[in-house]
Order: sequence, then C-alpha cells, then structure tokens
Amino acid sequence: MGLVVFNEVMGNSVLVVGGGGREHAISLGLKESMNVSELHIAPGNAGTALIGNNHQINISNVDEVVELVKELDVDLVIVGPEGPLVNGLSEKLNHIDVLCFGPFSSGANLEGSKEFAKDVMMMLNIPTAASIRIESIEQAEELIDGFGPIWVIKRDVLAGGKGVTVTEDKEDALAAISEGISLDGFVLIEEFLEGEEASMLVVMDESSYVCLPASQDHKRVGEGDTGPNTGGMGAYAPAPIVTESVKNKVIQRIIEPMHNWLSTQEDLYRGCLYVGLMINEYGDPYVVEFNVRFGDPETQVTIPLISSDLYDLFAFTAEGKLSELNVEFHQKHALTVVLASEGYPSKPKTNRIITGLNSENKDVIIHHAGTKLNSEGEITSSGGRVLAITGISNSLSEAARLSYSSLENIGLEGSHFRKDIGHRSL
Ligand code: AMP
Ligand code: GLY
Repeated sequence: MGLVVFNEVMGNSVLVVGGGGREHAISLGLKESMNVSELHIAPGNAGTALIGNNHQINISNVDEVVELVKELDVDLVIVGPEGPLVNGLSEKLNHIDVLCFGPFSSGANLEGSKEFAKDVMMMLNIPTAASIRIESIEQAEELIDGFGPIWVIKRDVLAGGKGVTVTEDKEDALAAISEGISLDGFVLIEEFLEGEEASMLVVMDESSYVCLPASQDHKRVGEGDTGPNTGGMGAYAPAPIVTESVKNKVIQRIIEPMHNWLSTQEDLYRGCLYVGLMINEYGDPYVVEFNVRFGDPETQVTIPLISSDLYDLFAFTAEGKLSELNVEFHQKHALTVVLASEGYPSKPKTNRIITGLNSENKDVIIHHAGTKLNSEGEITSSGGRVLAITGISNSLSEAARLSYSSLENIGLEGSHFRKDIGHRSL
C-alpha cells in the first residue's frame, strides 16, 4: 500500500507507538487534525491500517523505534504503552531532537515499579494503601493476618493489570505470594481499599497539567465485577463518582503534589499521568496505582470527548508549553464495551475471522484492538481484547444502547463481553 498523506502543505508527520484500542483511538483523533500530514503507527492493527501507515517493528526494542523515526523523518512520537517508556524511548528521542509525548524512564518507573511509586507517595504524603515487601513465605505467614481478609497481593512487574491478586481466601493469598516470590524474589502485600474505582488521566508537562474527563474501567472479566482481573473490559466517561468535590480533592491531594514534584525533576515528564483511584464512602480519594500513559480502554471513551485539536494537545505537551493551550471538551457521554477472545484473560484463542465491522452510525466508533489483516485481506483476531465498541451520546444510557446494539452485528466465534458496562451509573 502507498503512503497515506492527509495535509501535505502544513502538516506534521506523527508516529503512534502501540497496537491496541488505545492507539486506534489516538490515531482516529489525530486523523481529524489539520496539523497532521502523515500518520504512522507501529505496529498498529487492522483498524489503524485503514487510516494510516502501519510499520511492523518490535516496539519493546526502543532502538528499532528510533531507527523508524529517523527513517520516516517523524516530527512527533506519541507512545501508547508503558514498556517503551520504561525502556527509555522518550530520552532517546529527546537526544535526537524529536518531540515525544511520554515521560523519560525515571518517571515511567512510577508504573514500572509499584514499590517506587509507593515511596514517592509516602514522600509527598499522597493518600494510598499501606504496603509491605515480602521476600519469604515465613515472613508472609507471620504478617498476613495484619493485612486481611481481604488480601491484595501485587507482583512488582509490568503485568498488564494481571499481576494483582485480590482474595478473601488466605490459602489463595499465600499461593499468590509463593508464586510471586518464586518468579520475582518478592511481592508486595497491600492494605485492601474499600470504595469505587475511577481513572483520572492527566496530561502534563512542567508548565501545566490538564485533567481529562474522569472515567471508570471494569477490570474483572465477569459481570458484577467477578472473575479474574483483565486489562479492562469496558469503560465510560465522565464517571459521576468523580463529583466536583471529589475532583477538587484529587487535584489538591494527589495531582498538585505529583505535578510539583515531577516538574522539578531533571528528567522530563511530558505525557499522561494516569491516576487509578479508589474513592471511599466519604468521597476521599486514594491512589491504587499510577500509570505513565493513557489507559486502555479509558482512552476510547476519553479522546472522543476532547473537542480541541489533538495534535496540538500532544505537541504542546511534548514541547513543554501546555500552559499556552486552552483544552476544551464536548459535553457528552461515551461508553465502550470490549469484545474479548474465547479464553481471555488466561488463554485467548486468536486467528479467527471477525465480521460485521462496518457501522454506518457516526455516533459509534468501532475501536480495533487485537485485530490484523490476514493474507486474504480478512480481518482476524490477534489478541485477547479484540475490539472496543464505543457509543457517544448526550446521555450515558444512550451511549450504552448505541454500543450494545452495534455489538449485536459483530461476529467472532467464542468471543465474550460484559453486559453490564456502566452498571454503577446507569
Ligand atoms: P493495579 O494493577 O494496582 O491497578 O490493580 C489492579 C486492580 O486490583 C485494581 O484496579 C483494583 O480493582 C484492584 N486493587 C489493587 N489494589 C487494591 C487495593 N489496595 N485495594 C482494593 N483493590 C485493589
Ligand atoms: N485499563 C487499565 C489500564 O489501562 O491500566
């Protein structure tokens, strides 16, 4: 296929790194911008192939990404997943004077190491669950009763949301501890936080920060929040649990101290800080986790609510002049439902043909995640989370209706989805 070019005269060449639903959502937003001439995605998926130029490289090898950037003469790189950031992509791009949306590796370590994130939160007095490092099963047996039931066991590795065990069963907790210790040498046991979760995506550089509409993910695979944790089975925004009062507390107690601290570090933090929150019955927010990137599937319900030019948002941030930009939002609701492969999250079955992907409705976006084109030109599944079907409307219930009715037309053998996305607010 030839190079897809939109606005040759005044636009910029952009590379989106990643290949999931989040990167498709970012790419769709960039495609709307007058400031983008060429859109590249590495590796991308079948959805991004329709609107830009996919490049099949190994993005965990950041040198391969840098080579591609040089070859394509890219002006701005937007990094979707955490891996390349933890591996130092942002500083390597900075070194060759290419703008990058995404922090340097020292900042990315807020996601790369939960222990580091806890240390930073302790230092800044940010509300979060108490946690302790456990290096032996004897130590675990001694301390475990002080933490549960319910027990929260975390491996300190990048595990795509799957390195966490939350259980009321002491035997299960000890089994998770023992497995984690054998894999990594240690685990963290964390105090269980009661409440309702929400995600705040905050775009920031040293000059300013902008809170995007708060969203709510559904991490468990099954309806009623049951079964194992996944990368996320659906989301909606804005999340009503984040009232003005809650938002003000989040800003005052979490975002301001983080922004102040990050902006005084020598290493640049120009990108998104994803604040995973637990909000208790009094409306007090606690940090469950920090991520150093946009969420997936939260991005699919957040980007469509931004009315300002998306290229400007990324480029101003990457240049460290976000304070010069006024970012505006649509007063709408978005809800997305993830269609997952048979066997997800434990053993997803892939390479199956997907049908019914054409939606005529402009208020429905079929976000591709784990999809690819096979040699016959058919779209097939290539990952655990295959699609995110997003409805956008003036009300949350209509956004849900749009998403679920579009899902009915999609065929993928053995696939499953949650029928209760948005249940807390609908
Ligand atoms: P994490 O990867 O740290 O975001 O954890 C994944 C999921 O586990 C979170 O979205 C929560 O649903 C749950 N979780 C993690 N930590 C806690 C905690 N301390 N208390 C209650 N639930 C938690
Ligand atoms: N949806 C959760 C995440 O992106 O980490």
